[in-house]
This record gives sequence, structure tokens and C-alpha cells, in this order.
Amino acid sequence: MASSIKISPSILSCDFSKIGKEVEALEKAGADYIHVDVMDGHFVPNLTIGPDVIKNIRPCSRKVFDVHLMISPVDNYIQQFAEAGADIITFHPEATKSIKKTIDLIKKYKKKVGISLKPKSGISLIKDYLSQIDLVLVMSVEPGFAGQKFMPEVLPKLKELKDIIKRNNLSIDLEIDGGINFENSKIAKDAGANVLVSGSTIFKQNNGDLKKNIDLLRQN
Ligand code: DX5
Ligand code: ZN
Repeated sequence: MASSIKISPSILSCDFSKIGKEVEALEKAGADYIHVDVMDGHFVPNLTIGPDVIKNIRPCSRKVFDVHLMISPVDNYIQQFAEAGADIITFHPEATKSIKKTIDLIKKYKKKVGISLKPKSGISLIKDYLSQIDLVLVMSVEPGFAGQKFMPEVLPKLKELKDIIKRNNLSIDLEIDGGINFENSKIAKDAGANVLVSGSTIFKQNNGDLKKNIDLLRQN
């Protein structure tokens, strides 16, 4: 696992009237990844963006596109997201009949594989697959909306995952997503997260000073 902290701003909180410019600005401001939240109004009660939008913003940045799929069933869309330019494709275990099949499908397109755990989803759901994946995304809010309050009760799960990763010498990024701000970024890192997703903090704090907000999340 990478030792340095990576920041993955979620474009869910950007100004969608200039989404391409926002992605360019995030790269300039020092983002490591670009986090794209894909929601289907079925797996989660919200609708966001699909593969065509990703395809259109792909030329705006060379950064890693960290695509978080909150759609079910997920397999039918993996090819489209891969071809649109996703680099990491993260899915929820509840959104597929076969976790193994979904992992293999993402790998078929030579993309990195992430699995996301909702706040109440346990590690047991994914522990048999850890050696086959590149990233675990721990949700610290119920998936569906930006701007929700961080749930500290997921921190023990993060710690346990970190221990498993260390003990087994696995090369897995541990990402945390939901309600991350300048106060809780430190406890998330201390619990083992090395990738922090943030939407509202990055786009709304300090009058939307993206660089300042990314730097603060990285340092705090
Ligand atoms: C929630 C999404 C998150 C969220 C992040 O379902 O997966 O990526 O939009 O936004 P903030 O940082 O505002 O919680
Ligand atoms: Zn997300």
C-alpha cells in the first residue's frame, strides 16, 4: 500500500455547468484522483452521471479516474465505464450476484478493482476477495448524497481492514468516502485510510479554494 496520502475530490459537488473546467481545476489544485460518483436511482435514491459524461471529461485530466459505481446490477455497465475512461472501477458487493465474476470482468478491461462497503456492510462480505483487488472503499455515510455527516462508527472497520492488509502483506489502497472534513481527516488517516474522498469540503470550504482545501485535507 502506498504510504503517502492521496486526495480524491468527488465531482458530485462541482458546478455541473462547467464540469470539464472543474476537472481541470482539480488537477491544477493537486488532486491525486478524480472521484466520480455514479448513481442509478435504484441502488441508491439519487441519479447522477453516466459513462457519456465520463467520456466527455476524460480529456480534461490525466489523473486517475476513480469511478464509484452505486448501480445495480453492476455487471451490465462495466464495459461502458471501462471504455469511457475509468481507471479504478469500484462496486458494492450487494450490487452483483457474483463478486468474483464482477472482479474478473473489471480485470478483463485492464482496470483496477475496488470494492465498497456501506456503513453497515461487514468485512466478511469481501474478505475472500482481498487478494484479488486493488482498493477497498469504506463508506462513512449512507451512499446517495454529498454533504452528509461523517459516521465515526465505521472507523473500527477501517482499522480492522488496515490490520488484515498489513498482516497479509496485501497491496490495497484503503479509501474513505463521506463527510470528510478538516477535523475528521486525521482520525480517518490514523485508522488506516490512505485515500480520502471529499466533495463538499473541497468545493465549498474557504470560498471554494480547491488548492487550499486539498492541501489542508492532505496535511491535517
Ligand atoms: C456518497 C458519495 C460520496 C460523496 C462525497 O454516496 O459516494 O463520494 O458524494 O461527498 P461529501 O464529501 O460531501 O460527503
Ligand atoms: Zn463516492
